Amino acid sequence: MSSKILQEAVETLRSGELIGLPTETVYGLACDATNGVAVAKIYQRKQRPSFNPLIIHVSDIAMAQEYGTFSSAALKLADHYWPGPVTMVVPGKGKVSELVSAGLETIGIRMPNHQVARHIIKDLGRPIAAPSANVSGFLSPTAADHVKQSFPDLLVLDGGPTDVGLESTIVDMSTAQPAILRAGVITEEQVEAVLGPLAAAAEGIKAPGQLLRHYATNLPLRMDADVPQKGEAFLGFGDGPATQNLSQSGDLLEAAANLFKMLHILDDSDKYAGIAVARIPDTGVGVAINDRLRRASERE
Ligand code: TXA
Ligand code: MG
Repeated sequence: MSSKILQEAVETLRSGELIGLPTETVYGLACDATNGVAVAKIYQRKQRPSFNPLIIHVSDIAMAQEYGTFSSAALKLADHYWPGPVTMVVPGKGKVSELVSAGLETIGIRMPNHQVARHIIKDLGRPIAAPSANVSGFLSPTAADHVKQSFPDLLVLDGGPTDVGLESTIVDMSTAQPAILRAGVITEEQVEAVLGPLAAAAEGIKAPGQLLRHYATNLPLRMDADVPQKGEAFLGFGDGPATQNLSQSGDLLEAAANLFKMLHILDDSDKYAGIAVARIPDTGVGVAINDRLRRASERE
């Protein structure tokens, strides 16, 4: 990526406008988190409900601690998984636009493991608020083209397809016993290996965004399918015939990286009446994949 376009992106952010930003998980619709007008533009362009808070992205741990209060446990988790696909909900310090946290006392913070994202944040010198760069409720973007489809006029930094392909694991570190609020490729077992036992998911306060209908495909989606029915595309997993295959070898990390990309391909094609998805084991990263599929399969 040329330094000219990186510079243009930072100037766009400084002027209070939005950009499309690659991270290792999914592309973000990004703005300067300290600029309230810019944050308001995110809610407006995403058609995001105003009660659903945004997460901020930092370039280093010093910046994280400027904006949130990190317990020793939170610092330990950061030590293990930052930079990387983990967001921590911690007590906020009131230094970003109030709109970011949607009125909550806590703030979601993450340090992305992506050179472009980190460079931009460092250069801006402030955290970036960035939800996934899709219209609220629809599939998350894992390529620059997905972002351009939703926001044609946006400056999108093209970092190629994302490595992880699923949004970050969200861990609530603001309560006595931490809890997972959103499953991701860093699994519950991996978080427990660092923090000890977590609060049961059902007892934890959910991330507000998790309550909503989400990841909606235009086509109806059916999970745990053995074979496609007439007219359905088949999204496979493991050996065997499929329209698209999440992972021929049955590798869950590969499947996570391919999930949104392949759903976009099948959903954008006009050949099918629906999408049938093979059974995905509900262990490890499979938990996060099934979470996204379950909510994509729900119809209003
Ligand atoms: O991987 C990711 O996390 C991507 C990339 C762009 O970094 N971002 C992302 O943002 O997925 P978004 O806005 O689509 O999802 C953030 C989730 C929402 O479900 C929101 O409700 C939750 O985080 N959240 C944010 N702040 C919170 C808080 N203070 N307490 C509880 N949940 C929070
Ligand atoms: Mg999202």
